[in-house]
Amino acid sequence: MSRWMDDRVEGYLTDLAGQEHDHPVLAQMEERAAAHQFPIIGRASGRFLELMARTIGARRVMELGSGYGYSAYWFARAVGPGGEVVCTDSDPANAELAAGYLREAGLWERVRYRVGDALAGLAAESGEFDVVYCDVDKLGYPDSWRAARDRIRTGGLWLCDNVIWSGHVATGTDRERLPGATASIREHNQLVAADDRFVGSIVPIRDGIMTALRVR
Ligand code: DHB
Ligand code: MG
Repeated sequence: MSRWMDDRVEGYLTDLAGQEHDHPVLAQMEERAAAHQFPIIGRASGRFLELMARTIGARRVMELGSGYGYSAYWFARAVGPGGEVVCTDSDPANAELAAGYLREAGLWERVRYRVGDALAGLAAESGEFDVVYCDVDKLGYPDSWRAARDRIRTGGLWLCDNVIWSGHVATGTDRERLPGATASIREHNQLVAADDRFVGSIVPIRDGIMTALRVR
């Protein structure tokens, strides 16, 4: 996967992120990602998601697109015992894998995993969230934002992966095998930037993480 961020710099961030916390389950999940070319966010981004969730004292996190639980691992740490991370993914095999990994990490009891469409899962949940995190198929970014923005509490966060898209958002070009994704991510970025209820910024770790605080 070509990334706009220098591999050495990301490696440096990753090493730093691992100074205070490490767990064998992380290495297992990373091995699976490498073997199956599954796009996990990695430790530098994971650490950042944990940090942001802790910063606002998040207790309830909604994930749109969870894979086998790599980002949920970091959010589950942040919400603490009694906190909740709601995961979504259409592939039941991912839910099974997540259960195995997160149980081994002692975090599974903080997680509720919904197999099915991410936005259907969001609609089926009631109430507001401290954090909504988005990592769904890239064509779904604008609709995910529209569905989630009113479900984030004031003082809560919208966090969204891949908003730099290896630099394609700046040039407008598409990645060969994912036509339309660049336009979709650019539309998402524009919608967030123009919403006066949110103060957002793209944090350029790995492939860029939209970090937007709901202020009203
Ligand atoms: C890719 C990376 C991601 O983080 C993701 O969520 C989807 C795709 C990729 O590089 O192809
Ligand atoms: Mg991603």
